[in-house]
Order: sequence, then C-alpha cells, then structure tokens
Amino acid sequence: MRTLDLMKLAPVVPVVVLDDVDSAVPLARALVAGGLPVIEVTLRTGAALEGIRRIAAEVPDAVVGAGTVVTPWQVEEAAGAGSRFLVSPGCTDALRAAMTGSGLPFLPGVSTVSEAMALLEHGVTELKFFPAKAAGGAPFLKALYGPIPGLSFCPTGGITLDSAPGFLTLPNVPCVGGSWLTPADAVASGDWARIEKLAAEAASLADPVTA
Ligand code: 3PG
Repeated sequence: MRTLDLMKLAPVVPVVVLDDVDSAVPLARALVAGGLPVIEVTLRTGAALEGIRRIAAEVPDAVVGAGTVVTPWQVEEAAGAGSRFLVSPGCTDALRAAMTGSGLPFLPGVSTVSEAMALLEHGVTELKFFPAKAAGGAPFLKALYGPIPGLSFCPTGGITLDSAPGFLTLPNVPCVGGSWLTPADAVASGDWARIEKLAAEAASLADPVTA
C-alpha cells in the first residue's frame, strides 16, 4: 500500500502503548469496531512486538504498524513481527535508509521545515509532524503548505478530539495520530466498550467540513 493511501484509511491513527500483551487483540478489535482500522503500536514496551504479532494474526481488519521506531534494527524487528507500516518520532539517514529498504509504508517524524526538505530530497513526501502541538500545531502546517504543498503530514503529539478538526481541515493533513483513544485506565481495566466509543467519536471526524 502507498503511504498516502494508508493515511487516507482513517482520520485518526490511535497511538497505543501496550503494557500487557493480552490486551492487544481486544484493544485492536475495539478500535476497528469503532471505525479506526489503522493502529500504531509503539515500540516502547516489552509487549509491543508480540502485540503487533497477535494483532496481525488475529484481527484481519486491522492495519497494524510499529511506532516509536528509532533505530535501524527496530525496523527489522517491526517488519519481522508483521508490521504493515512504520512510524518514527524523528529521522536520521540510517533510519530513513532502513525504512526505505523495508518496503513498508513509513512516516518519518519531522518538526522543522529543513527536516522536511531533507526527506523530500530523498523522495519522501509523507511525514509525521511531531511533537505537533509543541512544534507549532496547525498554524505551522498551514504555513508550510504555501512553499511546499507536495507534502502530507500526520501530526501527532498533544492532539485531542477537540483539536483534531483544526488539523484535519488542512489540505496537507489526511490524518492525525494520538493516544487519547486508549486511556491507560481503560486499557488496564479492559473497558473495551469505552475505547470503541472513543474510536467512534474520532472516526466521525472523517469529513470535518461537512460534519
Ligand atoms: C507519539 O508517540 O506519537 C506521541 O507520543 C503520541 O502523542 P500523544 O500521547 O500526545 O497523543
């Protein structure tokens, strides 16, 4: 799948921090049931890779990927676990080369114009904007669209249900990412109904202009 097509599958990409591997499948099912099939599992916990493996094997309607990919060897691990896409908070030459080599769609993180231009030189036009709120929010991406309209961003970091529409109305933002869909207490207590409801609210942002 092309990265841009992946970004257009859903308006919001849930960013998941998985502490208990047994939560992976019910959590993914709740997100998919709520209308959010693209799920980023961050490689920040020991449960992440096995969680990706299980979601890939047991939740066929989910498109599960790995987030917080910060080293080239994590690219291999993530791909080996069945990740369908890769997301990184920032980017280096070595990481870009590894992500390109994986053949998977990937969203390297940037927070400045020059970082975006450096990736554009390598033909990378789909990017994560991180940390979105702290690095300038929607006004930053709106300003960037003038000089460099050929880039598409998934802003992530500090985004909420309330602030997401301000990003999604921009022509260079097909989707946003965030962890608000999977509150730690809801995951810990197995409150999948609450997570499905949060996902459904977020999925309804699909067309903010006409919503
Ligand atoms: C990320 O990993 O992309 C962010 O930490 C998620 O940001 P949020 O927790 O502020 O939504």
